Amino acid sequence: MSSKEVFDSDKQYVMNTYARQPLVLVRGEGIWVWDDQGKQYLDFVSGIAVNGLGHCHPRVVEAIREQAGVLMHTSNLYCTQLQPKLAKMLVESSAFDKVFFCNSGAEANEAAIKIARKYGKQKSPDKVEIITALLSFHGRTMGAITATGQEKYQKWFAPLVPGFKYVPYNDIEALEEAINENTCAVILEPVQGESGVHPATVEYLRFARTACDSDDALLIFDEIQTGLGRTGNLFAYEYYGVVPDIMTLAKTLGGGFPIGACLTRGEATNILQPGDHASTFGGNPLASAAAIAALSAIKKDGLVENAKVMGDYLQKELRKLPVEEVRGLGLMIGIQLNNPTAKAIGAACTENGLLVNPIGDSIIRLLPPLIVTNEDIDQAVEILKNAIQAAG
Ligand SMILES: Cc1ncc(COP(=O)(O)O)c(C=O)c1O
Repeated sequence: MSSKEVFDSDKQYVMNTYARQPLVLVRGEGIWVWDDQGKQYLDFVSGIAVNGLGHCHPRVVEAIREQAGVLMHTSNLYCTQLQPKLAKMLVESSAFDKVFFCNSGAEANEAAIKIARKYGKQKSPDKVEIITALLSFHGRTMGAITATGQEKYQKWFAPLVPGFKYVPYNDIEALEEAINENTCAVILEPVQGESGVHPATVEYLRFARTACDSDDALLIFDEIQTGLGRTGNLFAYEYYGVVPDIMTLAKTLGGGFPIGACLTRGEATNILQPGDHASTFGGNPLASAAAIAALSAIKKDGLVENAKVMGDYLQKELRKLPVEEVRGLGLMIGIQLNNPTAKAIGAACTENGLLVNPIGDSIIRLLPPLIVTNEDIDQAVEILKNAIQAAG
């Protein structure tokens, strides 16, 4: 099939929900991805933080191959050997006690929202309010778009889920004003990703913890993008020294295979009981095998440390470019441009063999895999520098 035939067929048969880049990708290995013309690209998007281990990590590929021939799916009516094994690995790697598995980030947040609602309702019928931040992103299901503090994602889909309040991010006073005894949860991303990479301040997250404790509300961190090494910590909450009651994960968790997770600790842990929540596919043997391999590889290969060292190096090199601001944590980086040239820069980078993620008119987001090297970074920064200079 020629590229044109692929684009035509995509247009004819696939629902028009994505503004596609003009590329047909056919193969990936490590940090590299190839299009159908045989051209190779340094992938600094990583499937929007999914391919944290790079493309087709050998241990993940091997685990999927092997498990696919043994047992792919049962039902959560039955125990399998791999789901509790993965849950144990996650619990032992974090501050959490138990895990609910699902298939995506939005679903992990739905689980968190339901836990929060039941937690509140058990205390008082009015304790159902959930506070979330403006410019956040939590996914596309109805609960998750309601939690997402961006009107552009909500406007066609009202009525939304009732009981949500929005506050400006990093604004301690606004959170103090909004939270009260009727709040059952506060949901925050430690670094807002989708709106252009905005890290929380340490004071803000510490205040959120204290405020939740005083009003007996659950603190939920959406670590779907920040989790599993992306920020140079296994989880971003470690960097902030603030432990939430619930943490949601997806993206890098399956090393490219779809799986999501909602982790709880303390009182949040035994809220859901049989019949309250479920997922047909959640944590099935194939997904669990992929995630066990991915998590083991992150640890064995020292990828969290690499993300920290390479994140510092990449940010240092980017700060030499003529841009307004470089912000981020580890390998989750937003470049605020001087001019509204993000799309032109994105296109020029693609042309020169580098995938980046333009956000709006003036931001470029970089999410290279955790395996990135100094050499990859030097090559990417050179391409970006030329693209920024050419865009003026
Ligand atoms: C912070 C955050 N939460 C939730 C989601 C939604 O995840 P999914 O697309 O897997 O539902 C995303 C996806 O980009 C995200 O970045």
